[in-house]
This record gives sequence, structure tokens and C-alpha cells, in this order.
Amino acid sequence: MANGILKGKKGIIFGALDEQSIAWKVAEQAYAEGAEFTLTNAPVAMRMGAIQQLADKCNTEVIPADATSNEDLEKLFKDSQEKLGGKLDFVLHSIGMSPNVRKGKHYTDLNYDWYHKTLDISAMSFHRVLQTAKSMDALNEWASVLALTYIAAQRVFPDYNDMADAKSLLESITRSFGYQYGEAKKVRVNTISQSPTRTTAGSGVKGFNAFLNYAESMSPLGNASADECAAYCVMMFSDYTKKITMQNLFHDGGFSFTGVSQGVMEKFED
Ligand SMILES: NC(=O)c1ccc[n+]([C@@H]2O[C@H](COP(=O)([O-])OP(=O)(O)OC[C@H]3O[C@@H](n4cnc5c(N)ncnc54)[C@H](O)[C@@H]3O)[C@@H](O)[C@H]2O)c1
Repeated sequence: MANGILKGKKGIIFGALDEQSIAWKVAEQAYAEGAEFTLTNAPVAMRMGAIQQLADKCNTEVIPADATSNEDLEKLFKDSQEKLGGKLDFVLHSIGMSPNVRKGKHYTDLNYDWYHKTLDISAMSFHRVLQTAKSMDALNEWASVLALTYIAAQRVFPDYNDMADAKSLLESITRSFGYQYGEAKKVRVNTISQSPTRTTAGSGVKGFNAFLNYAESMSPLGNASADECAAYCVMMFSDYTKKITMQNLFHDGGFSFTGVSQGVMEKFED
């Protein structure tokens, strides 16, 4: 049901690893809506090979970049503008990784080198992306920059571990940089807070099935899928959402505002 709402728009999509990735679905839908973009991921993700298939499908190329490296990001923005023939209109930051989560470290026993990595990869990288784009003047006025986040930034989900801190920082950067970039260049910056979704990053969280099922039973509309998230991202890149900035936008079937659902209440009846 593509309507060409991204016709003429140019962008960069970070974070497509495999077909499950939210960024993969965003690329497919943005392409169907008429956008032109480059794809990027960390050099290690490149070795898995799947992202090249996506690039072929979207008639584009992959430019490797570690999102924690200023040098890589500068090259990415330079090469993307050269390839696409001008400044950019949208950027998707779909990046998350915690060595503490991966290695099963408890939140009260974190390895601080890994904690630094979590914050650097999952949150500070968003600041780097924005700062690089701004200093290179790589974005058009009214460009839309999005990052993906999770409600553990506001509420405690114990097994989300240090990623919760990273998401809080990510959302704070969104507000602070959104203000600066809005004033300077009319660029909008937002996060989308997505339901639990079965992907490589998602499934790394301990007890992920319980996470997913609990959210499903607490959401009047049910969990939002990766495809539905992609549709929301496409809308946020379009001109239909020009005055939305500095927001954290819940895309979670109503989970964030549900105190308790009927289904969950029934489980506690004696
Ligand atoms: N899956 C969920 O349940 C869920 C829910 C809410 C928000 N999110 C967020 O959505 C985003 C995308 O995650 P996903 O679920 O599609 O999983 P995913 O594993 O497919 O994507 C994560 C991506 O981050 C990339 N990455 C890791 N380190 C990097 C680095 N140094 N430089 C550049 N890229 C790097 C990975 O290669 C991968 O492509 C993440 O920010 C995640 O926290 C996911």
C-alpha cells in the first residue's frame, strides 16, 4: 500500500543486521515509498553478509561505519551525500548493544568497561551521528532524525539491565540535540519507543519471551510488530510530521498507559 510519501527524500539507515531487524523493515518500506538511502552497520556486522542482500533489493550500497567512531561517521555522511547527490532528509539510528547483557552480568555487579561500551554504542553514538551531521551541514531543513528506544527508560524492567540507562540517555540526547538542531536548522529529532520485538538485539534480553507475552497481555491493541514500527518510521520521515520534534513517541499498542488489563486482573483472582 505504498503511496510515495518519501519520493525525493534521501537518507541513511543504520542497524539492519538480518531480516528480523527493525531497520531492515524500515529500509524495505522506505524504498517502497520512493526514498533513496544508503545502508550502514558496524564492520563486524558486514561479515554476516545479509545486509548486502538488502542493499541489492533497495538498489543501494552499504557503507560500513562503527557508530562509536567519529572518523567512520564523517566518511559515512560524506560518501552518502556523494552517492545520493545532495544533502539528506532522514536518518534512522537503530543501534543497541550491551556487553553486560550479552555476558549475563547482573545490574548490581556491572563490569564498568562494558558499561561504558553500552552507553557509547547505544546512546552516545546518537549524539555523534547528530553532531557529525550538524558540523558537516549534511541535513536539509525539516530533515527527520529518529532513534529507537524502549520503555525501560521510564520504568524498571530488571532484566533490561544497563540498556535501561542507555535508553534514558538516548532520550535525553533527543531532547537536548533536538532543541539545538531545531533552532539552528529546523531539523527534527525524535525517538520511537517500540514494543518488545523478536530480533537479535531483543532476544538477547534475559527472559525475553516473558517480556513479550507480558507486554502483549497488557496492551489493548497487542504488541506492535517490526513492520508496524517501520510504517511509523516512514511516516516520521515524511512531510506529514514536520512539527514533531524532541519527543519520545510510544509505539506499543497502548502498553505505556495501561495500569492493568482485564486479562492480567483475571490471573490474580483467587
Ligand atoms: N527488539 C526489541 O524488542 C526492541 C524494542 C524497543 C527498541 N528496540 C531498539 O531497536 C533498535 C534496533 O534493534 P533490533 O531489535 O532491530 O535488533 P538488531 O540486533 O537487528 O539491531 C541492532 C543493530 O545494532 C548494530 N550495532 C551494534 N553495535 C554497533 C556499532 N558499534 N556501530 C553500528 N551499529 C552497531 C547491530 O549490528 C545491529 O544491526 C535498538 O536500538 C533496540 O534497542 C528494540
